[in-house]
Amino acid sequence: MGAAEELAAFDALAAKRIDDDANYQWRIARRPVGNVRPEDFEFGVTEIPEPREGEVLLKTHYLGLAPVMRFYMQATARTGDVSLGIGDVIHGRGVAQIVKSRHPDWREGEIVQGQMGWQTYKVSKMTAQEKFFRMPNNGLDAALGAGVLGMTGLSAHAGLFACGSPKEGDRMVLSGAAGGVGSMVSQMAANVVGCDVVGIAGGPEKCAFIREHGCRASIDYKADDIEAMLDQLRPEGIDLYFDNVGGETLEACLERLRMHARIVLCGSISEYTREEPFKLSNYTRLRATDSVMRGFFVYNHLSDWDRVMGEMSGWIADGKLKPVQDIEQGFGAMPRALANLYYGRNVGVQCCSVRGEPEEWV
Ligand SMILES: NC(=O)c1ccc[n+]([C@@H]2O[C@H](COP(=O)([O-])OP(=O)(O)OC[C@H]3O[C@@H](n4cnc5c(N)ncnc54)[C@H](OP(=O)(O)O)[C@@H]3O)[C@@H](O)[C@H]2O)c1
Repeated sequence: MGAAEELAAFDALAAKRIDDDANYQWRIARRPVGNVRPEDFEFGVTEIPEPREGEVLLKTHYLGLAPVMRFYMQATARTGDVSLGIGDVIHGRGVAQIVKSRHPDWREGEIVQGQMGWQTYKVSKMTAQEKFFRMPNNGLDAALGAGVLGMTGLSAHAGLFACGSPKEGDRMVLSGAAGGVGSMVSQMAANVVGCDVVGIAGGPEKCAFIREHGCRASIDYKADDIEAMLDQLRPEGIDLYFDNVGGETLEACLERLRMHARIVLCGSISEYTREEPFKLSNYTRLRATDSVMRGFFVYNHLSDWDRVMGEMSGWIADGKLKPVQDIEQGFGAMPRALANLYYGRNVGVQCCSVRGEPEEWV
């Protein structure tokens, strides 16, 4: 079966409808092997839970998608939220409105973003573990809280600035450039810092997209010889490589480092569905150039939340950062939205609209 047919198999799930009188959930039916399949998901319905003293009732408006969710389903995630069992509601952050509050610190009507799980309502004590943040009513869409002004945005910012120490004029290479993190990193690196960005993405449409979103030049890794293109587009080597894919692309960039280069280890999606782990053969290239390869995990950067969200909202307002979210419609589409990431179907941050924008924002 080809990718198009495999994705079409999710259409029957996407047709599932919800209403406001019950709580609908996506749960794990079985552990995914390789890419997620429709049979890995179970659609459930429960009563809407009642909040007790110290709790709130949240109503979901948007949910964000991230490659790590497949690891939660497989119970192989080494970072982030706790592993899940068969039958558990899948983890996922989203944007919600507080529709009832018996919590002293949270008011009815407030719009928040945090750990909702793949469900249409949730009762919560608003614990630190769920990482809820109030969404400021600053004229921007609430949808952005499920991605660009959410954990994806914080990941892009922390990876680029806290980890990559970018400088004006840096000869930069960015993989996964058309994805959620990548499409933000490219624009911030080019438009805020002044880096010269070569982006890597799959297919001519995505390459055209990244050239309009911060990349001076593009490499289509599905059609081009990456090594030959790097030699052509980065003949003097690389000052900063932002890695979203790992594997052979990381190896190719390691071969081409300039002095005092930086490599940011954000993700390695090309390795996630391999049966045998990829073995990096040339990390010793760091030595000859006094270079640094540094990883980061977004949850270790939560203390920067307010500053980062403020900065990024400002860059959106002055046009340096165009928010790009790829929004699937309807709660039923959540499984397909996760599959999209692994089939490379998303452009920008993959999200799902459960109920659209909230009517009132308190
Ligand atoms: N360190 C952290 O705290 C942190 C936080 C968030 C995300 N991440 C990681 O950052 C990376 C990007 O995350 P995201 O949420 O922004 O996802 P994303 O880039 O929006 O989604 C996945 C994209 O990866 C590309 N891709 C899929 N399979 C691939 C393969 N085999 N080889 C190369 N590219 C492939 C596809 O684009 P193409 O069509 O161009 O192939 C796809 O659209 C992921 O690796 C994720 O795990 C890390």
